[in-house]
Amino acid sequence: PETITIQELANRMSERAVDVIRLLMKQGEMHKINDVIDADTAQLVAEEMGHTVKRVAESDVEEGLFDTPDIDADLTARPPVVTIMGHVDHGKTSLLDAIRQANVVSGEAGGITQHIGAYQVTAPNGHAITFIDTPGHAAFTAMRARGAKVTDIVVLVVAADDGVMPQTIEAINHARAAHVPLIVAINKIDKPDAKPERVRTELLQYEVQVETMGGETLEVEVSAKQKTNLDKLLELIALQAEVLDLKANAERAAEGTVIEARLDRGRGPVATMLVQRGTLRVGDIVVAGTQWGRVRALLDDQGVARPEAGPSFPVEILGFSGTPEAGDRVAVVESEARAREIAEYRERMKRDKIAARGGSARGSLSDMMS
Ligand code: GTP
Ligand code: MG
Repeated sequence: PETITIQELANRMSERAVDVIRLLMKQGEMHKINDVIDADTAQLVAEEMGHTVKRVAESDVEEGLFDTPDIDADLTARPPVVTIMGHVDHGKTSLLDAIRQANVVSGEAGGITQHIGAYQVTAPNGHAITFIDTPGHAAFTAMRARGAKVTDIVVLVVAADDGVMPQTIEAINHARAAHVPLIVAINKIDKPDAKPERVRTELLQYEVQVETMGGETLEVEVSAKQKTNLDKLLELIALQAEVLDLKANAERAAEGTVIEARLDRGRGPVATMLVQRGTLRVGDIVVAGTQWGRVRALLDDQGVARPEAGPSFPVEILGFSGTPEAGDRVAVVESEARAREIAEYRERMKRDKIAARGGSARGSLSDMMS
């Protein structure tokens, strides 16, 4: 199983074990120097302490499942994947809803019944943008700890009447740790007590320098309530995406990440997957975490069935045998036998890990955050 002692982890980072223990304690986990922690937790600790992590001990079963290289000639442009973050009540959901509604072609207000954790809209320049609705801070951290990098851009929502707050700072730190660029959306500018200038100044303290303060961070003043400047926000996202030059090979077996999953009474396990490379097709055999299945149907964010889904596209997958977990990476494999082998292997690893912790799965950092 992928585990490491606190002492060994500290040694490899050239840090003091006591600092590792202290950091874990801050996260609510009590450990002694010879305790064994799992690789996900270790990775998180290492990243928190500013180290770059390279995981090498993947088993043969997992060999070639993810991240096999593409050649440049096979890469084509893909839409950016955007996560909205910010302090409680600063208007993240309102902003997402406003953007989505403005983009619904039917024009029927309130006609959005389908709720899926990710959706695509079209920017004024005609390019698609994918928004992920679910990841709050905890989900974002958990996904990162599991090696799933899902977002290309973070939109940091700061309410103009409230200013920079603890979760604003947390979001800035998350984005920085994940090397994801920020776009600042100063929200609620319709409010009489809005002070956008104060927000800009406060952000400087956290080394976020927006354009009007002479920096490079893109910014826009918005009102989710009055739908002010939503187009401008989409334009900035498209602009930032252009700079990032996001590409993927669409002509290969699909890879991606489960954004959310649930057990539906009528339809069985339903997993929302963000396709990150390749193209997923009905009939493909997929593995996600300890679950696998043959794709029976693919549904887009409007609930419409599609034969396939390419890079940056969010789709609901029907056909899993069990319900995977948010943050699970998804791979397409060549046969049901291989899918079963991988799923069973992971199940075994999971059991070993629990056993190594002394029979209790509780208290794990990643469990706490998922
Ligand atoms: P959490 O999910 O709880 O963290 O909150 P949130 O960031 O998603 O905020 P939400 O969208 O739920 O909005 C919080 C409150 O602010 C709601 O009462 C909204 O109606 C209000 N609100 C959001 N955007 C605006 C805005 O642009 N102007 C005004 N005046 N109110 C807004
Ligand atoms: Mg919300």
